[in-house]
Amino acid sequence: MNTIKELQHKIAELFDTRNYMSNPKELYEPIQYSLSQGGKRLRPLLSFMSCALYGGDLNEVKNAAIGLEIFHNFTLLHDDIMDESPLRRGMPSVYQKWDSNTAILSGDTMFVVAYEYVTETKPEYLIDTLRVFNQTAREVCEGQQYDMNFETQGYTTIEDYMEMIRLKTAVLIAAALKIGAIAAGAPKVEHQRIYDFGILIGLAFQLRDDFLDAFGNEETFGKPIGNDIVTDKKTYLYLKAYQLADTDTKTALDKAFALENKKEKVAKVLAIYDTLNILQITEAKINELYLEAKKLLKEVERPEDEKTEVYSFLMKLVKREV
Ligand code: IPE
Ligand code: IPE
Ligand code: MG
Ligand code: MG
Ligand code: MG
Repeated sequence: MNTIKELQHKIAELFDTRNYMSNPKELYEPIQYSLSQGGKRLRPLLSFMSCALYGGDLNEVKNAAIGLEIFHNFTLLHDDIMDESPLRRGMPSVYQKWDSNTAILSGDTMFVVAYEYVTETKPEYLIDTLRVFNQTAREVCEGQQYDMNFETQGYTTIEDYMEMIRLKTAVLIAAALKIGAIAAGAPKVEHQRIYDFGILIGLAFQLRDDFLDAFGNEETFGKPIGNDIVTDKKTYLYLKAYQLADTDTKTALDKAFALENKKEKVAKVLAIYDTLNILQITEAKINELYLEAKKLLKEVERPEDEKTEVYSFLMKLVKREV
């Protein structure tokens, strides 16, 4: 079996050797810009890992894996407009470098290009792969809409939040794993097992993203720290803070979130999070999800040493700084 490093190398090669330029260049330049920036390229890696875990041939999942990464990058073009987030991977977001119209249309084109790649799946696996991809793409939109609704919605529970991040983030991580299993010709029962495992990993991944948005380092994270606070996102951190706050602290939180000055707002909110131990509480929740995922991985019927490699990689992902 390939090591994770080898798989990462293969994926880097796949993207570094591709050129997306075409005419009109105003449409394709932002696509090239986004896809050559790198990022973790986690989703194709998961498809490769899952295909390898089930003893498949990586060539069978290659195009779908590329398609998933292009789809992911498309969602980021639109997400940065929606979140008014000017920085991505340490560089200006597409809507910032060009404008929103460009980010919308280049993003739409990327969605089509993603389909073109996914469609290049062996006929035997094509229908199953497309079904997963279609459902996932729709669910990501649903999650993104809940995310936006929650910015202005008065009362949001942690349960609502978990469902929102399941949709906007976890389903794509889970789909990447499932598509790997499909391409390997794994039994149907395994498709679902690896999908359920992916959902837990995806939830933890989004919690970690929320965590880094508040407590991370802008240099390594590559996104503006505190942007979730500025845009009143109902993150796990926000919801936990309100849940744990006494009346006075709630008033202080309300006041901090109402501040107009962005810097002051972020600093005040972070100071209150600090008094409530939100950092430690969020880390504990992330670990809880990973342990749950580990239990699910136990049920996957593959050799123990191969599962250990998958799991140890994912544990590193929990500690990610980017
Ligand atoms: C960012 O995804 C969007 C989330 C779901 C949190 P990644 O953190 O995988 O972004 P890149 O592709 O590595 O930049
Ligand atoms: C991302 O959630 C989910 C999707 C892009 C579908 P975020 O809005 O938290 O992602 P980042 O932090 O901008 O990468
Ligand atoms: Mg965002
Ligand atoms: Mg968002
Ligand atoms: Mg985020």
